[in-house]
Amino acid sequence: MDPIQNPFAPGAGTPPPALSGRQDLLEQVRIAIGRTQLRRPTKGFIAVGLRGVGKTVLLREALSMATDAKFLTCFVEAHEHKRLGELLVPHLRRLLLDLDRIGRLAAEVKRGLRVLKSFLSGLKVTYGDAELALDIDPEAGAADSGDLEADLSELFSAIGRAAKARDVPIALFIDEIQYLGQKDLGALIMALHRCTQERLPILLIAAGLPQMAGLAGHAKSYAERMFDFPPLDALSRDDADRAVLTPAEAQEVLVTQDGLDAIHDAAKGYPYFIQEWAYHAWNAAPGPRIDRSVVAAASPSALKRLDEGFFRVRFDRLTPREKHYVRAMASLGSGPWRAGEIAERLAVKPTSLAPLRGILIGKGLIYSPRHGDTAFTVPMFDDFLRRLMPDWAPPSVSS
Ligand SMILES: Nc1ncnc2c1ncn2[C@@H]1O[C@H](COP(=O)(O)OP(=O)(O)OP(=O)(O)O)[C@@H](O)[C@H]1O
Ligand SMILES: [Mg+2]
Repeated sequence: MDPIQNPFAPGAGTPPPALSGRQDLLEQVRIAIGRTQLRRPTKGFIAVGLRGVGKTVLLREALSMATDAKFLTCFVEAHEHKRLGELLVPHLRRLLLDLDRIGRLAAEVKRGLRVLKSFLSGLKVTYGDAELALDIDPEAGAADSGDLEADLSELFSAIGRAAKARDVPIALFIDEIQYLGQKDLGALIMALHRCTQERLPILLIAAGLPQMAGLAGHAKSYAERMFDFPPLDALSRDDADRAVLTPAEAQEVLVTQDGLDAIHDAAKGYPYFIQEWAYHAWNAAPGPRIDRSVVAAASPSALKRLDEGFFRVRFDRLTPREKHYVRAMASLGSGPWRAGEIAERLAVKPTSLAPLRGILIGKGLIYSPRHGDTAFTVPMFDDFLRRLMPDWAPPSVSS
């Protein structure tokens, strides 16, 4: 069928033609937005899930709901090598300038800008234009101690007061939140806690890898009471089918039951894989009908795309030693694996692998679903590794 008409949308954060199976979470977003508008105590949330389950898409949807509800918003993607202050400042500056423009002079908004200016000096980083463009004197003694926990709380409080003065709530979206280091995460949680205590209208909606709930609890023990950590899983069979059927039917294309079965066998309900398989099946179909044989014909190109893109980008970020380690994991099946099993496979002591494991967790490739267990954050990464390195063998143990 005509690729130009193809509705399916494999890609990072690319909105799917049908956002399937996320009604409960979107309802949670709707309630959080409504409660924040009414100034009722509201729990923010951090959605957690594996790579490609639809975290970014969900955050983007929540962002558009907040925008429709007349929130001021900012959307930040955390980064392994960037500090929180650096990430937030340009957004907070824009937010404050927007608040400034909304109405007549408000002391709280001007103070917010001054506190942001002093926060900048406390960070000891320059922001080029952002800094110069804040043509205002800093609020001496506020948010400029250089201690991020204290300063960020002060800054959030000042911004929250400015928002309250304008009667405009703020929604802060953070994607890939697992990349915030423990210090930054602790400071963020503390700053939001302060806003809750002062009943200021700032809502956090975030997403990250599954290790996130543990990281947040570790950074601040009260994090579990402040946020929900709803899991984003693979789609149920019905929802997975709907993700394919709804867009196909909208264009009068029939997907047979065995076609749906074949897509499900390959994708196992993972949204990214569903989009990839459905996309290639569409292109491979000779006419407006997708059945098992069409999906089979499309499989090599779907797999090739996943291997060269989705999987490969993760693999290429590894050192030779890390590659060896993950290939040893894959040689043991689909996991999760005990630390001892992996060590045995590599013929080394478990303790000697701990640093490597820590680095791979930091890179977001593996996580610990339970104490002592290790699993990939990328669904079906083990299959990929076996395809990529079919001849890999564990080091032989000398007798
Ligand atoms: N609920 C859904 N129904 C159907 N397709 C979806 C759904 N959610 C996401 N997708 C599709 O899955 C793919 C991955 O989505 P997204 O980038 O949001 O995942 P992610 O969890 O953010 O992945 P990563 O951890 O790699 O950033 C996209 O192609 C998107 O269109
Ligand atoms: Mg994402």
